[in-house]
Amino acid sequence: MQNIDKIIDKWNADPDYVIEMMQDIQDELRHTPREALEQITKRTKVPLARLYHIATFYKSFSLTPQGIHKIQVCTGTACHVKGAPNILDAFARELEIKIGETTEDGKYTLDEVRCLGCCSLAPVVMINDDVYGNLTTKKIKSLLEKYK
Ligand code: FES
Repeated sequence: MQNIDKIIDKWNADPDYVIEMMQDIQDELRHTPREALEQITKRTKVPLARLYHIATFYKSFSLTPQGIHKIQVCTGTACHVKGAPNILDAFARELEIKIGETTEDGKYTLDEVRCLGCCSLAPVVMINDDVYGNLTTKKIKSLLEKYK
């Protein structure tokens, strides 16, 4: 809770900066827990319902802990046509999790995304801030090795 208060202090508990506070908390804790939202409400007087609306509207926030490495498999049209469903299945099998889940060791979270904006490289996967194109299911194991 001390870290959360420090973050709220950084923004002077100003209600105009609740999104910034939530972003800092998300970065620090890899999620935005209920206790943090309650503390922001307590300190800024911004209603808890509004904070939940923000936390569930923006994809950058998560109410549950996220993995250290966020894997986003593009399932937009171009990637879908080039085999994205197989790529997604291969990641799920390799990590033994479903879409939206995080591995037990907290290392990886698997998600799908609609278009990463580089369709000519389809099928595309983004891991943290790194983009990988022309993927095949055979490359996935070695790709994950980079993030161990
Ligand atoms: S559809 Fe996958 S990058 Fe655009």
